[in-house]
Amino acid sequence: MKKFLDCISEEMGRGFEAAGYDPKLGRVTLSNRPDLCEYQCNGAMAGAKLYHKAPIMIAGDVAAKLAESPVFSQVQAAAPGFLNLKLRESFIREYVNAMAAEEKFGLNMPETPKTIVVDYGGANVAKPLHVGHLRPAIIGESIKRICRYCGHHVIGDVHLGDWGTQMGLICTELKERHPELVYFDEDYTGEYPKEAPFTVSDLGEIYPTASARSKADPAYRQAALEATLKIQRGERGYHALWKHIMDVSLPDLKKVYGSLEVYFDLWKGESDAKPFIPEMVEAMKASGLAYESDGALVVDVKEETDSREIPPCIILKSDGAALYATTDLATIKDRMENLHADSIIYLADKRQEMHFQQVFRVARKAGIVKPETQLRHIPFGTMNGKDGKPFKTRDGGVMRLEELIGDIDREMLRKILESRHEIREEEAKETARVVGLSALKYGDLSNQASKDYIFDVDRFTSFEGDTGPYILYTIVRIKSILNKYEKSGGSPEDFAVLDAVNASEKELMMQLCGFGAMMEAACEEAAPHKVCAFLYDLANAFNKFYHETKILTEEDRAQRESWLGLLCLTRRVLETCIGVLGFSAPERM
Ligand code: ARG
Repeated sequence: MKKFLDCISEEMGRGFEAAGYDPKLGRVTLSNRPDLCEYQCNGAMAGAKLYHKAPIMIAGDVAAKLAESPVFSQVQAAAPGFLNLKLRESFIREYVNAMAAEEKFGLNMPETPKTIVVDYGGANVAKPLHVGHLRPAIIGESIKRICRYCGHHVIGDVHLGDWGTQMGLICTELKERHPELVYFDEDYTGEYPKEAPFTVSDLGEIYPTASARSKADPAYRQAALEATLKIQRGERGYHALWKHIMDVSLPDLKKVYGSLEVYFDLWKGESDAKPFIPEMVEAMKASGLAYESDGALVVDVKEETDSREIPPCIILKSDGAALYATTDLATIKDRMENLHADSIIYLADKRQEMHFQQVFRVARKAGIVKPETQLRHIPFGTMNGKDGKPFKTRDGGVMRLEELIGDIDREMLRKILESRHEIREEEAKETARVVGLSALKYGDLSNQASKDYIFDVDRFTSFEGDTGPYILYTIVRIKSILNKYEKSGGSPEDFAVLDAVNASEKELMMQLCGFGAMMEAACEEAAPHKVCAFLYDLANAFNKFYHETKILTEEDRAQRESWLGLLCLTRRVLETCIGVLGFSAPERM
């Protein structure tokens, strides 16, 4: 379906043309002065230079041609040459009814859907998920859902950090504690035990201990690096231990991501890049792209136009070990060859900007991607506490994700019990979980990703203001009206909408009409905050309409049914939007 604003602009263009001017001048935008008009067109100002005419004259000519327009109820030329516009109720009503009848509300599907890999989550195996992993999970999940809704073939990959030094550290610490384990016996040729010699909570203790020791003790650190290399080379014993660490950690990771309703299509990791590394490195050497520098293998990536120094990208360390950039490059190779990616979107902290710049440049120079392949890093800012510093637990430690989710759920439960005394405990808990998730996700997503934001449990869980619970509250309110009506035997799904009868109803309808353009832009720009802004405006418009309108007690049947139809559409649009943000609404709250 043609986008709402495009329909309006086209009509305006026809006005310009009829008056003898270039129709391209007819670009319409939302009004800067909502007190004067709903939309505006500044084309007459631009036309003044072109036609050597006062802009107000041009505006007047165009307004005269559009006096009978089926789109505009008002086209007013205002000094110095603006066109102030109001829309006809009938035009809006037709658009709204067409939206309601179309799949996805008339959203245009791409002619050639793209295969998009979203690389998000990025948990590091054997380390607990902490608040630093919250943003990539939440934002990535939403970007995945938005692109999928917009008709692309989207693959979400968690890209675990499962090959780095932390794995070597754990092996080293284990060896210190239990040198007798068969994994460390180089002459051992038998099968390794099926059971890991540690549990997930052991790992929670082993890793920080090992990490602290390696910082204090260079020999220990060296041992850990060697162990990492042994894992990367696939030495039997170390590989078996690595496998144990994976097997023990993954269920726990899946559980936490699941509780955030974050679902990956692929549970791959850095280690899966391994088979792609040798060929990639050989090709880079053969073409002369990679060269040796201080024993390491590097590729130059700086460009003349760089405003800051971009150092060469290290492909292999002097001991032959692969690095973060190496696995990222080999993973691109995998994604190109096996997933046929047209676009790869990475969710990672903005401190990794340089890393991705290097990796993307090497990928292009080495021909790992096609010239038209899109590589995109969506950098995100830090989640801060109310003091403006990176979010910490009360005692200053790094907050585990599970703990944080628990805090939100508890606060939500308290609020729900406070406002609804009659609710059963079980229902209250489930509602708190669903609403809590909306608080957490919306609180994050409503900010532009690249900015830091302040994590504020009180504000996020509030039923008022620009929050997840406010949006859900609005949806629940609509559901309850529709339920009441359905109980009386009606089915409001197919009711067509009549012309708006007052300003708040018209405003609600115009908000709905913006859905398609908003969703397209959110997909194009990988920007979930656009969906949040739309939701908030739509929820506000609905609540204003609701407070001014007695719906179920309306005597005129056609009018009542029209409003119920409008409610249905509003509910569907709101639910679609929260769906792409990654949460859902309860039946009651
Ligand atoms: N594991 C990484 C980290 O914790 C994030 C991974 C991001 N994705 C990537 N392909 N590099 O920092």
